[in-house]
Parts: sequence; C-alpha cells; structure tokens
Amino acid sequence: LSRLDFHIRPKIAQRDSLDLAAAWLGETPGVIVEFGFGAGRSYSHLLARFPGRDVVCFDRADKAHVLFRPPTDRLIVGEFAGVLDDPAIHARFTGRVVLLHVDVGSGGPEDEVVPEFILSRVHPWLRPRAVVVSDQHLTLDPAWDLVPVDTSGRVAYAELFHVYRRPG
Ligand SMILES: C[S@@+](CC[C@H](N)C(=O)[O-])C[C@H]1O[C@@H](n2cnc3c(N)ncnc32)[C@H](O)[C@@H]1O
Repeated sequence: LSRLDFHIRPKIAQRDSLDLAAAWLGETPGVIVEFGFGAGRSYSHLLARFPGRDVVCFDRADKAHVLFRPPTDRLIVGEFAGVLDDPAIHARFTGRVVLLHVDVGSGGPEDEVVPEFILSRVHPWLRPRAVVVSDQHLTLDPAWDLVPVDTSGRVAYAELFHVYRRPG
C-alpha cells in the first residue's frame, strides 16, 4: 500500500460511517456534536447529510475555512478537558444529542485516552438510539450504554472507523 492509500482509506471509512448514521437517523430529532473540528471537512459533510440540523463542534483551535465557518455559537473553542468542566455546556446538550462524531486523532499518545475521556463526560448527552462514530476504538464503560456496531459490508475499510449505538 502507498502512503496515499493509507491516507485515503480512513477517510472513506469515515465518510461511509457518517453516511450510514445519516441513513439510520433520518429525521430523528436531535443535535449533532463533533469533537475535533479541525479544518471543518467532516463538519461540511455533516451539514450536507443533515441539512437544517444544529451541528455543534468542539476544538482547541479555530481553523475554520471561510466558506464553512460554523455560526459563532456552534464552534466551541477550548481544550476538551476545560470545556467539559463547564456546567453550562452540559446543560445545553444533556439528553439532546442524536449523533456524536469523535474525530480527535493526532497520531500521538493522547489518542489512547482522549476519546474515552470525552465519552466519560458526554454520555449523558446521548438520546436513545443515538449513534457514536469515532476515529479511535472505544473501550466501552457499561455506564455509557453503548454497543458496538459491525459495519462491515456497509462501510468500506470498516475496521478503520468505529460505530456504536445506544439501544432504544
Ligand atoms: C483529526 S483533526 C479533526 C479533523 C476534522 N474532523 C476534519 O474533518 O477536518 C483532530 C482535531 O482534534 C483537536 N483536538 C485533539 N485533542 C484535543 C483536545 N484535547 N482539546 C481540544 N481539541 C483537541 C485538534 O486540535 C484537531 O483539530
């Protein structure tokens, strides 16, 4: 495999996983939350797949493209640990999120702990039947009330992106 292959395959798995979540969720009401806004590529995909929805993103940096800049109240800038200490943030999202996209990988050692840290804080945000799509494998805590979904056959390179669902 070339380096280009290694770059592209997780992106295909990410896109297909988000598309699968969109097909499952349809018009199911709820907010979409993304941890790891980055350059806003996946944000633009979420807007395309969930037209008219509230899509709220978190990142330590604001690197938004001028054409895909979220409204000010939908890009929450700060370290996840600090932002997730804010009771006002929890009040805003608890019980309202239908899709959580976790895309925080940097290739460093923090990839081992940041996704589980996020879930440990935000699992009360998820509605019944909510979907979690993650660039990292999650070691699930039973308190999160999530089950892994085998997406092989529906997502290309399914082993490269991880999908979980809250039972209904
Ligand atoms: C892989 S990039 C996101 C790519 C983005 N989803 C896209 O499609 O353009 C990961 C992002 O997570 C952010 N991030 C990682 N760990 C973080 C932390 N502890 N607090 C805040 N932001 C963090 C980084 O700043 C980076 O922009």
